[in-house]
This record gives sequence, C-alpha cells and structure tokens, in this order.
Amino acid sequence: MSIVRFGVSLEKELLEALDHYALKNSFPNRSQAIRHLISENTVQEKWDQNQEVAGAITIVYDHHKRNILHTLNHIQHDYHSIILSNLHFHIDHHNCMEIIAVKGRAGVLRELAEKIISTKGIEHGKLTMTH
Ligand code: NI
Repeated sequence: MSIVRFGVSLEKELLEALDHYALKNSFPNRSQAIRHLISENTVQEKWDQNQEVAGAITIVYDHHKRNILHTLNHIQHDYHSIILSNLHFHIDHHNCMEIIAVKGRAGVLRELAEKIISTKGIEHGKLTMTH
C-alpha cells in the first residue's frame, strides 16, 4: 500500500486532544494515531450499516417557520415503517422539541435523521443510536 502525505489544519485544542490520545494509547507519532482513528471509524460505520438498531432523533425548531411542520410531516410519512413514536413538546411560544423514536437498519436511520436535521428551520438536531 502506498503512503500519501497530506497537510491537516486543526484547532489548537483538537491538536492537544490528538497528542493526549496518542500518548495515552502509546502511539509512536500523530500519523499512527490518526491512521488508527480513521480505520476504526470506517470499520465502525460499515458495521453499523447492517445492524438493526433502535434510536432517537431529537430536534428543536420554531414552529412559525414557513412550511416546517408540513415538511417534517412529509418526511416522516416517507419513513413510517421505521418510526415507532413521536413526542412533541411545546417548549415556549415559538419553540418545539420533538423526539422521534426509530428502529431499523442503522444506514436507513441515518438517512432519515439527515433529512430531518437538514430541513430548513431546524435549530438543533441529533441522532442517537443503540445496539
Ligand atoms: Ni410545539
């Protein structure tokens, strides 16, 4: 396998975290630590794709934003077979929080979460998954 060199720009804090990680795990240098982190993450991702998992998508948005309720409803109907339940909390006059419980292949859960979280007007969104 050929080795390619490339430059990386990082915030100081992230670089310190990397050095700390390398030291703690006895990696001889930063390259080795980065190599390990990348391969671990890509393996994890492939593995996750085929796993049946349960999860929750949590979102916060202003329900006055144009079309947001219609769009969210539409997306969720497209994925009705993996959605278990949907909790809606009216946090204040403007903001709603929704917790959407999901179960299915991790890859499909991610796909749904990305569509929901990238909807215009979503202020905060996060997917958590459990095996
Ligand atoms: Ni609400």
